[in-house]
Amino acid sequence: MPPRPPMQSTPARQVPPQTRSMPKPPPQVPKTAPKIPTPPKQKKEKEPIEAGYIIKNILIFIGMLAALLILGFALILSTLYVAPEKESTAYSYYYGINDKTPSDEVKVNRVVYINMTELSELCSFTVSGTKASLRFTADAGEYAEFTIGSVSAKVNGDIINMEGAALIRENESVWVPLSFGESFIVGMTFDKNEDEGKIRILRNKIPESSEEAPEYEPVTFRIKGSQAIESVGEDPYIGEMVDLGFVNDLSEYEQYMNPEDRDAYLILVNKTNTITSDYAPENLVSITNVRKDGRKEQMVECAEKALQALYIELKSAGYTDVSVTSGYRSYNKQVSLFTTYLQNEMKRDPSLTEAEAKEIVLTYSAFPGTSEHHTGLCCDMHNLGSADVAFANKEAYLWLKENCHKFGFVIRYPEDKVDITGYSFEPWHYRFVGRYHATRMSQLGMCLEEYVEHLNRSESN
Ligand code: DAL
Ligand code: ZN
Repeated sequence: MPPRPPMQSTPARQVPPQTRSMPKPPPQVPKTAPKIPTPPKQKKEKEPIEAGYIIKNILIFIGMLAALLILGFALILSTLYVAPEKESTAYSYYYGINDKTPSDEVKVNRVVYINMTELSELCSFTVSGTKASLRFTADAGEYAEFTIGSVSAKVNGDIINMEGAALIRENESVWVPLSFGESFIVGMTFDKNEDEGKIRILRNKIPESSEEAPEYEPVTFRIKGSQAIESVGEDPYIGEMVDLGFVNDLSEYEQYMNPEDRDAYLILVNKTNTITSDYAPENLVSITNVRKDGRKEQMVECAEKALQALYIELKSAGYTDVSVTSGYRSYNKQVSLFTTYLQNEMKRDPSLTEAEAKEIVLTYSAFPGTSEHHTGLCCDMHNLGSADVAFANKEAYLWLKENCHKFGFVIRYPEDKVDITGYSFEPWHYRFVGRYHATRMSQLGMCLEEYVEHLNRSESN
């Protein structure tokens, strides 16, 4: 007789060695039944092995093997089929035949739609704008802008018509006709399979990239087959004939807001494009809408005249308490400002070394020789006691943000460009570049650094 297995603390989970080869587990003893000691197992008498018994066991074995193989195949197939749809470079829709659901999610009035919001996650587009009008901007700065409920959209400034209106659907996602994607989204393949009732959308692989680590073409917006940047037409706001919605007659200011020499004010001054200490802009004039506390601020004449026009409209819109607190600053003026900020930081936190304090100041004040206030082309304006990010919550700011480009100004240090400008958000700092470039920058969603690089790139192509 074999020895009985030793007692375990969790006997229910243990399988006694002698039962492993048995085809079925012993029947369960009802919990309520009294415990009956298990009789020691008897060795069976050896019986002659019958041919039928062997065949039966072989058949059971083959059956189990076949079942395992089928299971394995099914597993492999499901991985192959499902995985590509879940990977981050492709996804599929069913658009409603052969009972494939959800059919009405992608077809509206017989037009097949794609989910732009989902697509923008796949392609890392930046989404901006309001709920009613959304702009999707690609890495290269090219963009598509949709107005919800409208068949018109803008692609890099050009107005185009779509097969159906842009829609907001569940989860606040924006849906546009598939044909928009086919015509204007470059770097992706839109594969509509009528037989399967399926749209497969995937990013295009760069052919020479390896199979193991595939790289993908940049995804952007343009009329397919054209060179996007060059295809961008003149801005519709440019020119005297275009109605900008001004409520006043600003015709005498037109020459300043939209200067004939449109590149004359495109100078870039920043942490790496410095300005010499002896630089002094020509044509500095007093700023009219300066804060009424006796201060005198100056700006380059063309920019100041354009600013006057802006103030005429700003006041007509009901914002009468915005004023300019800083305009042109000489090198020495910037030295004195920067030094004051440095001292303030060290007073605020005496444990800081001068280098550490300087690092902090450099996030909000330009080192002398790197401030664009030195160009005479910008000003600080707001309706607070001092320049503060809280100005971004004021309605006057929203008006300026929406309209300043019409007068030739841009918000120079926007909230979403801190990494590029190197300065924290300054809702009060406006830079004159002229209407053409200001409008283009606003359309492209670019700050001045990006825009200058974009122009240089376009020129070198
Ligand atoms: N505050 C800006 C960056 C300047 O000092 O010019
Ligand atoms: Zn400023």
